Amino acid sequence: MSRSFERREFVQISACAALGTGLVGCASLAVVSVPTGGGRARLVLRDYPQLASPGGYLRVQPDDLPHHLLVFAGDAGEFTVVSPVCTHRQCIVSVAGPRLVCPCHGSEYERDGTVTMGPAERRLDRYPAEVNAAGELVIDLEAV
Ligand code: FES
Repeated sequence: MSRSFERREFVQISACAALGTGLVGCASLAVVSVPTGGGRARLVLRDYPQLASPGGYLRVQPDDLPHHLLVFAGDAGEFTVVSPVCTHRQCIVSVAGPRLVCPCHGSEYERDGTVTMGPAERRLDRYPAEVNAAGELVIDLEAV
């Protein structure tokens, strides 16, 4: 296990416990805290088996952002990173299979942030991300 992984905290687990649900059922609610530097967040991919298969996803909380990000593993080894903040009135969307659904007024998005159903008219903010030679997913937090 890498040193960076040991420092990471899983937050919201206690919220799951408070809701009376088991940890297994709460795994999708966990948000992984990731350090940032130079306007970038770095995620050591081998530490997150959730992202090892196409369709997997993870919620990450960069130090410098007021909200978490959604990281999705694609079919060809690529990753998509989007903001969960609905562009209609800023509620936080939920992952519902292949879609992202806003609980406030029903907007829906593709996992790449494209709007598929309003009232939202603008796509979710998307953060450029690429895997470096060290196997880290580097997310550019300043490009949005
Ligand atoms: S805030 Fe998301 S649909 Fe209105």
